[in-house]
Amino acid sequence: MRAVNVTEYGGINVLQVAEIPKPIPKKNEALVRLKTAGINFIDIYMRTGSPNIPVPLPFVPGVEGAGIIEEIGDKVSEVKQGDKVAFVGNLGSYAEYITVPSSQLIPLREEISFEQSAAFPLQGMTAQYLVHDICTIKPGDHVLVHAASGGLGLLVVQWLKHLGANVIGTVSTEEKAVIAKKAGADHVIIYTKQDFVEETKKITNGIGADYIIDGVGKSTLTKDLDAIRTRGHICIFGLSSGAPDPIVAHNLQLKSIAITGGNLMNYLTSREELLRRANKVMDGICEGWLKLNISGIFSLDQVNKAQDLLQNRKSTGKLIIKI
Ligand SMILES: NC(=O)c1ccc[n+]([C@@H]2O[C@H](COP(=O)([O-])OP(=O)(O)OC[C@H]3O[C@@H](n4cnc5c(N)ncnc54)[C@H](OP(=O)(O)O)[C@@H]3O)[C@@H](O)[C@H]2O)c1
Repeated sequence: MRAVNVTEYGGINVLQVAEIPKPIPKKNEALVRLKTAGINFIDIYMRTGSPNIPVPLPFVPGVEGAGIIEEIGDKVSEVKQGDKVAFVGNLGSYAEYITVPSSQLIPLREEISFEQSAAFPLQGMTAQYLVHDICTIKPGDHVLVHAASGGLGLLVVQWLKHLGANVIGTVSTEEKAVIAKKAGADHVIIYTKQDFVEETKKITNGIGADYIIDGVGKSTLTKDLDAIRTRGHICIFGLSSGAPDPIVAHNLQLKSIAITGGNLMNYLTSREELLRRANKVMDGICEGWLKLNISGIFSLDQVNKAQDLLQNRKSTGKLIIKI
């Protein structure tokens, strides 16, 4: 089969398409003929050999995809040949085929396209746990979302608005500000021109944000401690600008701040939990209040271009691969 095969860590040039053996499903697995795959920031950590997400070489990148089941192992009961499915957390979706444990497959609804199906599992379910599981968000709460025009950011903004929150987004450019506003952000701070701590304080009458959703890390987390209100919550769930500096515990005590580490896999601990969260996202899509904002569709041969856009802040919304 054709797949992107990474044999060394490095720049986008290590993303090379090659012919490799088609995988064979084990007794509890299904072989999925991939139609689409999602591109995510975690793919960049893996490609560059980040010590935070170690992946042994060689590997086929991509942790999210959608397709049709071509074959199932002897012990598979959750799905059958011909089913339309999606998945997240299984490495190897930049390829024509992948094997996935059947308990980790998400049955798809007819009305959801393969393009949408590669765009919602990782970022959609992450948005879902970020707004429902870290702290209770009440209508009118001020929630600060970093990288608000990104793939994850746009979903979080829409979900927060659905819950009635007052959303403050940060972005790097005017163009990205327009996109974040269109998704529903009440206030957008262009952090390359404005100080996000000062602006957040202004917007919240000096109080600070109730909750900060931070997937940026190094350039934001330390400043979040000044932008958050007394007894506020911060979720740190990504490091697109690098791993954040250590935090002095005493600084949390001064304002009684809670910081939670976010990792989707810790919120998908059983099939019941996976399907419940996936269905919440599909409900939002089908009800029309959650838009996926697919801004780029690439072929396997073009994944280097796509990763370059994502890594260098040149993308908004979701990038996917059509296989
Ligand atoms: N732990 C989890 O459960 C989980 C799940 C999904 C995603 N994530 C994390 O969520 C974050 C967003 O992921 P995504 O795929 O949706 O990406 P994305 O937000 O579409 O792209 C990253 C954005 O981060 C901002 N950024 C700020 N400083 C940056 C820097 N130095 N280099 C690159 N980007 C920088 C840029 O937006 P501006 O130009 O507006 O600054 C950029 O567009 C990532 O950190 C990812 O690892 C975590």
